Amino acid sequence: MSKITVVGGAGNVGATVANVLAHKDLVNEVVVVDIAGDMARGKALDMWQQAPIDNYSTYLRGTDDYKETANSDIVVITAGVPRKPGMSRDDLINTNANIVTTVTRKIMEYSSNPIIIVVSNPLDVMTYAAYKASGLPSSRVFGMAGILDTARYRAFLAEALQVSPKDIQAMLLGGHGDTMVPLPRYTTVAGIPVTEMIDAAALDAIAERTKVGGGELVKLMGTSAWYAPGAAAAQMVEAIVRNENRIFPCCVKLQGQYGMKDIFLGVPVKLNKNGIGQIIELQLNDQEMALLKDSAQHVKEVMEVFDKLQG
Ligand code: NAI
Ligand code: 2OP
Repeated sequence: MSKITVVGGAGNVGATVANVLAHKDLVNEVVVVDIAGDMARGKALDMWQQAPIDNYSTYLRGTDDYKETANSDIVVITAGVPRKPGMSRDDLINTNANIVTTVTRKIMEYSSNPIIIVVSNPLDVMTYAAYKASGLPSSRVFGMAGILDTARYRAFLAEALQVSPKDIQAMLLGGHGDTMVPLPRYTTVAGIPVTEMIDAAALDAIAERTKVGGGELVKLMGTSAWYAPGAAAAQMVEAIVRNENRIFPCCVKLQGQYGMKDIFLGVPVKLNKNGIGQIIELQLNDQEMALLKDSAQHVKEVMEVFDKLQG
């Protein structure tokens, strides 16, 4: 694979995706496309001028012309507005549904069979929007949220346990919102069940902080996060380009898994050169399944708002 496009690439998350990807030196070219054309051109040029210093060959091109995105192998969509303090991700739906639908159609004019990774919020429903607008199979259109949400959970745990975040492995399910479902039963510290390392109340507090982890950053910065989100989307691109079969929580269309159909929700998947290689079904207990269903219900309601907006 040789060409990646980042739509909304002049913005905070998009520029970070482009920058992290360039540093991975994975592909020939990253196209940064944005309605803010000069900012896209400027940021791409700046990142290309970083190449001799940081030793990468990936060429970065900024543009507002979708012709330059032609024949992209992977497209990351970060276009849209971020939330401000006091807003939920769902409050963004009116604006971002139009943006994501429009940019997906423009991408499909010039690339016939890309893999699309959606980042714009509200994430699960924007993934649905891109899926509908693209006409691609659901294995090629999915969303980034679970890697970020588990990264927050892992970082908080590492801090509490005074261990390296590298040694924390965790899984988290559900929508990218306050109903997400961190899974202590599927969380380990270098293979040791996390419950043997931390008491239940402290673990619960970390799970609760994770659920509102995005909001914590919005309160601090007046806009949403970009370093960890950008790195998370770039990690998905890497798994695809390298055909790694890595297992990550991603937002995908469920087609019977977990007893649910036609809903976009975060679950563990295997990522490879074809996109979603497999959706992995965990053996959830009753309590975990109830939390997942509750999260799914919330996502479903926002999907219905999107359907009504489309008429
Ligand atoms: P930003 O405002 O810094 O960047 C958004 C970019 O999109 C801007 O450069 C803007 O010019 C561009 N844009 C707007 N309309 C466009 C269009 N029609 N065509 C092309 N480009 C267009 O916002 P930021 O912080 O980069 O966030 C982007 C999106 O990602 C937001 O919706 C935010 O909520 C979401 N997000 C999602 C996360 C996740 O975990 N899934 C994590 C962090 C942010
Ligand atoms: C985040 O979780 C706002 O979705 C964004 O940081």
